[in-house]
Amino acid sequence: MTDTLLFLRQLISRPKQISAIAPSSRFLARAMTAALSPASGRVVEFGPGTGVLTRAILAAGVKPQNLTLFEFNPDFVSHLRSSFPGVTVHNTGAQTAATHVPKGVSAVISGLPLLSMPFEVREAIVRAAFDVLTPDGIYVQFTYGGKPAVSPDQMRALGLTVEQTAHVLFNLPPARVHTFRRA
Ligand SMILES: C[S@@+](CC[C@H](N)C(=O)[O-])C[C@H]1O[C@@H](n2cnc3c(N)ncnc32)[C@H](O)[C@@H]1O
Repeated sequence: MTDTLLFLRQLISRPKQISAIAPSSRFLARAMTAALSPASGRVVEFGPGTGVLTRAILAAGVKPQNLTLFEFNPDFVSHLRSSFPGVTVHNTGAQTAATHVPKGVSAVISGLPLLSMPFEVREAIVRAAFDVLTPDGIYVQFTYGGKPAVSPDQMRALGLTVEQTAHVLFNLPPARVHTFRRA
């Protein structure tokens, strides 16, 4: 089955978990992974779906053995395991990342539909990312709206700053990329 067909089937059966009308474009994937290089060390991805961002992370030079994915959907997990040999894929929520991954991750790349999640889940996910990141590690998240997916109050509570690092028009719908860091 092609990536697009698999995505559409899962969109029909689990619309709330997917919360997107199409996989990310290669332009968005490139913008999400612009800070990565072969020197990035360990990287984590949240909500990889069919693996559009996963492919871009590996293309940026991250070694498969340095990449760990967290994906809820078992059908996507099977597809990811066969498409990306050497990459570790956990079939569990991103909020559990710190129980599976040791600290020292340089970047968490998130394709999660964070804005469509309840406030508490959103906060637990961002907290889990910063629990595994190095002190200068980055959390990269896209949104389809104008504002970052983490509210100013949540950022204050978590001690974070944010910067818009891209606005990608060639995506359905157009998306903004935000990079979060410790303040
Ligand atoms: C919008 S799709 C993004 C897919 C892909 N990253 C992309 O950009 O095309 C969101 C993905 O997040 C997954 N997901 C939703 N909630 C999750 C959670 N709490 N932990 C891990 N994955 C989750 C869904 O199953 C889905 O594959």
